[in-house]
Amino acid sequence: MSGGTEIPVRVTKVTPVAHRIKRFRFERLDGRPMPYFSGGAHVIVSMNDNGHLRRNAYSLMSPPYDCSAYEISVLHVDDSRGGSSFMHEKVREGDEMRVSHPVNLFQPDWRGRKHLLIAGGIGITPFIAMMEQFSREGAQFELHYAIRSRDRGAYCEDLVAHYGRHRVKIYCDAEDNRIPVARLLDSQPLGTHLYVCGPAGLIDGVLKSGLESGWPEQNLHSERFLSSQPGKPFSIELTRSGKTVHVGHHESMLEAIESAGVDAPFLCRGGACGQCETRVALCDGKLLHNDVYLTDEEKASGRKVMLCVSRFEGKALHLDL
Ligand SMILES: Cc1cc2nc3c(=O)[nH]c(=O)nc-3n(C[C@H](O)[C@H](O)[C@H](O)COP(=O)(O)OP(=O)(O)OC[C@H]3O[C@@H](n4cnc5c(N)ncnc54)[C@H](O)[C@@H]3O)c2cc1C
Ligand code: FES
Repeated sequence: MSGGTEIPVRVTKVTPVAHRIKRFRFERLDGRPMPYFSGGAHVIVSMNDNGHLRRNAYSLMSPPYDCSAYEISVLHVDDSRGGSSFMHEKVREGDEMRVSHPVNLFQPDWRGRKHLLIAGGIGITPFIAMMEQFSREGAQFELHYAIRSRDRGAYCEDLVAHYGRHRVKIYCDAEDNRIPVARLLDSQPLGTHLYVCGPAGLIDGVLKSGLESGWPEQNLHSERFLSSQPGKPFSIELTRSGKTVHVGHHESMLEAIESAGVDAPFLCRGGACGQCETRVALCDGKLLHNDVYLTDEEKASGRKVMLCVSRFEGKALHLDL
C-alpha cells in the first residue's frame, strides 16, 4: 500500500471515552460495506490538516464481523506531532476522511489452546476486536489490563460487564495494583499464546519474563504503537527519481518523500511491517534505526533502512527510490 487504495468515509460518531481518549466511527461514503478484518488489524487514517497530509495507524476495535462501520479509539498524546491532536481537536461528526484497507500485523494464532492478553493504556484497542472474535469462535481467553488511573482507563467497566471478572482483570497504578506478570506467565496451561500491547516498558518486561520462564518465542506476540521520533534535520538524495529531499526536525523520511511527490510503500508507518524497507545506495554518516523489523545484523550492515521511523546523521545519504 502507498495510500492509493484508500476508502472515503464519513465520521458518523465521535464519543469521548476517558481522559484524552475519543472513539471515532467511520462509515463508507458510497454506502457499501467495509472490508472484513480480523482482530488485531489496524488502518491508516489520512488527515487533511489545512492542506498538510497526516497519516497515522489506528487499531480497529469494532467487531470484526460487523462491516457496517469501522471504529477506532485515539489517545491524545502529550507531545503529539499533530495526528492525535488533529483527531481530537479538528475531527467532527459529518466530516469526510479516508482510511486504508485493514492490515493485520498482530494476528491471533488460532493454534493456541488459550490466549492470554496483556494490555497497557491505549494498547487495549486491538484486544477489543480480538476478544469479540475469540468469544464468537468459543476460544479460551483472558485479559489483564493495566491502567494509570480509573479516569484514564478506557472501556474497563464495559469489558468486565461483557466478558465477566473471571476473564477480564483490571490493574490500576494509582491504587498500587500491578499485573503479576511472572506469576501469571508461570501458571498458564501448555499451548497458551501470549499477546501484549502497550507502553514499551510493559512490552519489553512481559516478553523478557516469557522467555525467562521458558515460553517458546513463537507463542509470544506483541504490537508496539511506534511512531517517528523528532531529530536533527537532514537531506537525502533519491537516486531513481533524481530528487533531493529535506527531512525536517519533526518529519519522518517517509513523510518528506511523500511531500516531495514520490510514492513510497507503507503498511504500518510504525517500524514493524517491513513494507517501507529501502536500499541504501550510499551512506556517509550514521543511520539511526528506530524500527523493530530489521535484525541487528541488517542494521549494522547499513544497506537497508525503514523510511517510516528511522533517521540519519552525517554528510550524505542516497536511497534507491
Ligand atoms: C500498528 C499501530 C496501531 C496503533 N493503534 C493506535 C490506537 O489504536 N490508538 C492510538 O491512540 N494510537 C495508536 N497508534 C499510535 C498512532 O499511530 C500515533 O502514533 C499516535 O496517535 C500519536 O500520533 P501523533 O501524530 O499525535 O504524534 P506522533 O508524533 O506520532 O507521536 C508523538 C510522541 O508521542 C509518543 N506516542 C506515540 N504514540 C503513543 C501512545 N499511544 N501513547 C503514548 N505516547 C505515544 C511517541 O513516542 C512520540 O514521541 C498505533 C500505531 C501503530 C504503529
Ligand atoms: S511502513 Fe511498516 S515498517 Fe515502515
